[in-house]
Amino acid sequence: ALQRTLSIIKPDAVAKNVIGAIYQRFEQAGLRVVAARMRHLSRAEAEGFYAVHRERPFFKALVEFMISGPVMIQVLEGEHAVQKHRDLMGATDPKQAAPGTIRADFADSIDANAVHGSDADETAAVEIAYFFAGTDLCARA
Ligand code: CMP
Repeated sequence: ALQRTLSIIKPDAVAKNVIGAIYQRFEQAGLRVVAARMRHLSRAEAEGFYAVHRERPFFKALVEFMISGPVMIQVLEGEHAVQKHRDLMGATDPKQAAPGTIRADFADSIDANAVHGSDADETAAVEIAYFFAGTDLCARA
């Protein structure tokens, strides 16, 4: 089924100037960018986005990292977009990520892991709505 998922290119990957290289992987896999926005997140925005992790030991470091520089946020659309995007990203910890995945190729650590992607269809809807209005999503030409 045609799905949408939220993708964030994190501050480490933006600093490495690999937004285009990562977009190319999305496009080659058949995912289309239907909305995009570059932002330097406030602490409150980052904390709200990752609220489900609030009690986790890594929460503070995660928020500090996510506000350390600009991020590129996009909605990707395609068949099975949520899983396809997760496959492209690879495991959360780049040391566990399969060769050829975004995290294996561009991430340095489990904290600075280059990209975020929604983990399920329901979370995708919530995460997309966190950053984009319905009118921001562009239908295919
Ligand atoms: P992300 O997919 O953005 O979701 C939460 C982030 O927390 C995750 O990627 C990692 O960058 C970061 N993180 C740090 N430590 C852990 C951990 N032990 N388990 C999961 N996520 C972690």
